[in-house]
Amino acid sequence: CQQQATEQWRPYFHFSPAQNWTNDPNGLVYHEGEWHIFYQHNPFENKWGHMSWGHAVSKDLVNWEHLPVAIPEDSAWIFSGGVVVDKNNTSGFGANSMIAIYTADYHGKKENQQLAYSTDKGRTWTKYKNNPIIAKPLPNGKEMKDFRDPNMFWHEPSKQWIMVVALPTEFKVHIYGSKNLINWTFLSEFGKQGDFTKIWECPSLIELPVEGSQTSKWVLFISSSNPNPDFVGMQYFVGNFDGKTFTNDNPADTKLFVDYGKDFYAAIPFSNAPKKTILGWMASWQYTDALPTFPWKGQMSIPREISLKKTQAGLRLIQRPAEEVLKAKNWKGIVQMEEMGIEEDNSMMWRNQTSSYMIDVEFELGGAREVGVKVMKNLTTNQETLVGYQKDSEQLYINRINSGKIISPNFASMDASPLKLERGTVRLLIFVDQSSIEVFGNDGEAVVTSLIFPENNSANWQLFSRDGRVKVTKLKVWEWQKD
Ligand code: FRU
Repeated sequence: CQQQATEQWRPYFHFSPAQNWTNDPNGLVYHEGEWHIFYQHNPFENKWGHMSWGHAVSKDLVNWEHLPVAIPEDSAWIFSGGVVVDKNNTSGFGANSMIAIYTADYHGKKENQQLAYSTDKGRTWTKYKNNPIIAKPLPNGKEMKDFRDPNMFWHEPSKQWIMVVALPTEFKVHIYGSKNLINWTFLSEFGKQGDFTKIWECPSLIELPVEGSQTSKWVLFISSSNPNPDFVGMQYFVGNFDGKTFTNDNPADTKLFVDYGKDFYAAIPFSNAPKKTILGWMASWQYTDALPTFPWKGQMSIPREISLKKTQAGLRLIQRPAEEVLKAKNWKGIVQMEEMGIEEDNSMMWRNQTSSYMIDVEFELGGAREVGVKVMKNLTTNQETLVGYQKDSEQLYINRINSGKIISPNFASMDASPLKLERGTVRLLIFVDQSSIEVFGNDGEAVVTSLIFPENNSANWQLFSRDGRVKVTKLKVWEWQKD
């Protein structure tokens, strides 16, 4: 039977492929004024398979131009990996060439690392003739079924390229060094720390500034478990990297999670970029088959600028929507208010033109135990999604129990991140985009990302409070106007 297009769920300001399947973002890189997204793509079908690298570029991180498939499958699937810009031609493929290193997956039987290069700003790619470049993980020298997702960067102090790559079923990351991106030397391994209840995939290592200081620290990201044990998600480790070894600053059993929603996975940083920015896949392996969109499945998160901040518990990741997103010319301001009071179920209903918008709201909680915004509020179907803060549990949450289509048995949920308030105020920066919600709490201290599939999109939203009157100290809303 002919499947119906679901353009009502197509995001306006998040990247989605024009058609067919995507999972992880790959090879994120900034080069000569262009941001590149490569992505795990099935060029032929709207489901996982024929894995190849799809490709899109953007000048502003919000409007993406679709390009032809960059690296197609061959006798292997082209799994996740990274791209770097080889400014000084260390590889011999050409000054300023783009070098992709990805995992070749032989249909689940074995995995190794391979290289492709482009000398025309990523428009065409040539697979290296002597692939694979790392056939077996050292020092164990065994051909591996699971050995994947390389990510690389130039490490200036040790004057070499560094690669991190996962041994998923061993819950380990291997670190390699190279002078030319082709010959790699095993340097060290890191693993079995934090959360290792789920396989480790898609590692990346990046140096991040510590806000309010002159110092920086290294952060190792791993896609693995979710705070909710039934799901996958991302964790991170904070520590040092000396050109050889990554050391964790925290006790081995400290678990730090990137996002507390169910739909943020496989994020990696943009290499060669003017600022530290990550982008993730907005979905969960738990229900990918059930994603109800057509003719595409899968979309990316908002690009997030990242840094570290000192808290009483130690250094923690801060994630803020990329400035380009906030400053995009497509936003049209529609509400701006200061100092208004709201009471339980008694506040005004707002109606936008579209269901792609951004709400920046700050609440002074006072005596109230819960505050937030009901979005995608449909007065006919009674569906709504709650984005809020609970004072007693000190949690920022998205509640999609009544958000619309329940695409899998464990889809309907309330997903929450710890968030401690310093001054009794909470600021929610909420992005609603047709079929997704991302909420950033208190200037990037906590993030929750959730997909939603409302039966009928609704442009209505409403502030709410429970058990008390609250003061809204700031409310600004912008709507996304398509070009
Ligand atoms: C993560 C992942 C990667 C792999 C790719 C395959 O979502 O499983 O480990 O490279 O997806 O599509």
